[in-house]
Amino acid sequence: MLELADVHAVYGRSHVLHGVSLRAGEGEVVSLLGRNGAGKSTTLKAIVGVVEVTAGEIRFEGRSLRDVPTHRVARLGIGLVPEDRRIFADLSVLENLMVGARADGGFTVDRIFGLFPRLAGLARRRGGSLSGGEQQMLTIARTLMTGPRLLLLDEPSEGLAPVVVAALADTVAALRRQGLSILMAEQNVKFARRLADRAYIIEKGQIRFDGTMAALDADESLRRAYLSV
Ligand SMILES: Nc1ncnc2c1ncn2[C@@H]1O[C@H](COP(=O)(O)OP(=O)(O)O)[C@@H](O)[C@H]1O
Ligand SMILES: [Mg+2]
Repeated sequence: MLELADVHAVYGRSHVLHGVSLRAGEGEVVSLLGRNGAGKSTTLKAIVGVVEVTAGEIRFEGRSLRDVPTHRVARLGIGLVPEDRRIFADLSVLENLMVGARADGGFTVDRIFGLFPRLAGLARRRGGSLSGGEQQMLTIARTLMTGPRLLLLDEPSEGLAPVVVAALADTVAALRRQGLSILMAEQNVKFARRLADRAYIIEKGQIRFDGTMAALDADESLRRAYLSV
């Protein structure tokens, strides 16, 4: 479904991704693990075209995404949930959802409220008055309104209390059961383990491990070298 082959990306003169290759299949949950500054967010940004890709190939459902502008990447069926939860503080929860709504193919509000029952009870509340966990749910929900088949989650569990992280894991599992493919950047290996089939580890803009979550779990030295255990 998604394939990156030898992708290089830069911020101006700063060369950050040095040949990243990875793939995510239909219906899979794949995690991209690595410490702070390793290149996780940049990889997700490269996919949606908000960082300059200087070499390599990015394909989604067989089509090259290089040189496809960001708004068109969304229309092709890729939704990025960025690490800073960008909700509209002065709009209600329902209005926040309607901002993402699309006439063709997106989730309906009813379907969203089925997946996020907590948001249903908060529909008229101001976005800015929600807790961190609720804002994370709302950010994911708003992205779903655009109808993605592939969801890119950038550190969804960051800064959330354990009980909220557990609820988020249930929601991501439900999305997967509904057929979505998910590529998730995480530092939280415990969270990734609950959801992902396969993992990549990135360090200094290069992939250092590519394998099953079970293989990663079995290799303590790998986790010590590249992850905050
Ligand atoms: N806007 C930017 N301009 C310049 N350098 C950046 C920018 N954003 C990130 N970087 C650098 O790129 C590297 C990878 O960052 P990032 O992809 O955000 O890492 P991660 O998401 O794994 O924490 C880091 O060295 C970071 O300092
Ligand atoms: Mg990041």
